[in-house]
Amino acid sequence: MNGNNSQIARQALALLGATKDITANMANLSALIYQNTADINWAGFYILKGDKLVLGPFQGKPACVEIENGKGVCGLCAKSKKTVLVPDVHKFPGHIACDAASQSEIVVPLFKADGTLYAVMDIDSPKTERFGPQERELFETLADILTRACCGFN
Ligand code: SME
Repeated sequence: MNGNNSQIARQALALLGATKDITANMANLSALIYQNTADINWAGFYILKGDKLVLGPFQGKPACVEIENGKGVCGLCAKSKKTVLVPDVHKFPGHIACDAASQSEIVVPLFKADGTLYAVMDIDSPKTERFGPQERELFETLADILTRACCGFN
């Protein structure tokens, strides 16, 4: 992990250690990402509730409140249970445009300690091809720190 990413990961460890509350930690993690990542316009969470992803804590413009599992980039991430990188949202069929400025996007799945998916973390950029392997590593690490800080979110 590069120096800047290691620094953000260390900050997340300290910041998220203050409580086990998942809402408080999602709120602070979205703020940490938003304040420390260049060229992004949205960072936040969608929480799996039944067969829907419901808007959770975030930073950025108001966003759609519910996404059907399987729909959009977030839905693909939740369904496939894999990180999804979209270099150009205009080339992703079914992309849900919450902010017209968004050009590229990364969505990371979040798993409880027992391996079940409970949420996805979505980060959007006004630049195409903003996210690559380094960002993927950082955001997957931050997702892991979040789940561990909340004791596996059991
Ligand atoms: N673009 C996402 C929807 C969420 S907003 O970007 C915040 C998607 O296609 O799933």
